[in-house]
Amino acid sequence: MTGGHSLRGDADAAERMPREELEALQLQRLRAVLRHVYDHVPFYRRSFDAAGLRPEDCRTPADLARFPCTTKADLREHYPFGMFAVDRSQVRRLHASSGTTGAPTVVGYTDRDLDVWASLVARSIRAAGGRPGDTVHVAYGYGLFTGGLGAHYGAERLGCTVIPASGGMTERQVRLIRDLRPRVIMVTPTYMLTLLDEFERQGIDPRTTSLAVGIFGAEPWTEGMRREIEERFALDAVDIYGLSEVMGPGVAQECVETKDGLHIWEDHFYPEVVDPVTGEPVPDGAVGELVLTTLTKEAMPVIRYRTRDLTRLLPGTARAFRRMERITGRTDDLVIVRGVNLFPSQVEEIVLSIPGLAPHFQLRVTREGRMDHLTVRAEARPEASAAQRAAAAAETARRVKEGIGVSASVDVVDPGTLERSVGKLRRIVDERGRTPHD
Ligand code: DLL
Repeated sequence: MTGGHSLRGDADAAERMPREELEALQLQRLRAVLRHVYDHVPFYRRSFDAAGLRPEDCRTPADLARFPCTTKADLREHYPFGMFAVDRSQVRRLHASSGTTGAPTVVGYTDRDLDVWASLVARSIRAAGGRPGDTVHVAYGYGLFTGGLGAHYGAERLGCTVIPASGGMTERQVRLIRDLRPRVIMVTPTYMLTLLDEFERQGIDPRTTSLAVGIFGAEPWTEGMRREIEERFALDAVDIYGLSEVMGPGVAQECVETKDGLHIWEDHFYPEVVDPVTGEPVPDGAVGELVLTTLTKEAMPVIRYRTRDLTRLLPGTARAFRRMERITGRTDDLVIVRGVNLFPSQVEEIVLSIPGLAPHFQLRVTREGRMDHLTVRAEARPEASAAQRAAAAAETARRVKEGIGVSASVDVVDPGTLERSVGKLRRIVDERGRTPHD
């Protein structure tokens, strides 16, 4: 366990661990967590038994691939406490997933789980460029969502001053940022755009704020969005990843010095990437679905959890830990329009590269007769003329057709007309009589 004080340097001991030492630690932790769940969670005992496996059959990290995966459906089936591996009296905190893609799932933490979580978020903030003594504005929602409280305790652990703003009350957020002068902001990238609008509405140049580092996550975002936010706010924008089932924010973090994807904190999470259809592991470098095993969680460990997030594993750079490329989409955000697969992030990349368009867009899918129809609704930048708007619409349609392979109508709408985010933004409105989610 890393204590708070050892974190106040530039990197904690685990971040400097040589690869061989890390792999030995991973194996030892892997075997311990497999034993822990086998002994305490009937679901895992049954599924290992059915596969003819015992915890000690994991002799190398590669052996983990022989064990069954765990899915969101498994967690739902055991709602609320069936996946817990400790007595309820040991559970210090509960969080729950938003339930935007179906029934909620409840997750729990022991004292030690909360301690590890805080230390990993502290490590993440430091990798992002935050330092002890900084003031950190947390605009992730506080509550059952892991974003707010996860960021909060991590920032405190690093030795920062926290502004627990939570999401919403945008006018007040701007005032707090101006008056309290935070150096770091932690917020979803789409809510950061909402804050941008509000700064401009109040006639304040966002480039003049005290903000120097933005730690953005909880939803997919693109390089185009990074450029937009960095330029408009004059700050460094880096990516933070996590999910409630595995811990919350702080599973992986992009380092500010390289901005080249997210280092997975492999001393606490063992990553694999699998083919989303067959579930078979793919080699490092190949794109597929991220599968995570918690190595140190006590209250609710997960073994081979299918995240539904698409990425690929890459070697370490700024840290020895392996990286994952930014998430390109979730398997359940995939829209299939006339047989063509499409993720909102592909459209984001296009919209953000077209002069005259603001970084606000929405995808609408309808059915006309038996044909699916895709409409991209994108906002014009305030200064765009009617001719520029028409050109932007034509160019977007052309690039969507060429780059993604589907014909789309493009509506360039007036500035300020599309729904704004206060947290995670819903990009897709599917009006075909069924939802893309389960
Ligand atoms: O979103 C935890 C979190 C909070 C992460 C704050 C980062 C910052 P959930 O609500 O359980 O937890 O949603 C997890 O959000 O499986 C991804 O699909 C998506 N997600 C999270 N971070 C990123 C990211 C939190 N950096 C789900 N890029 C995950 C893309 C992300 N998608």
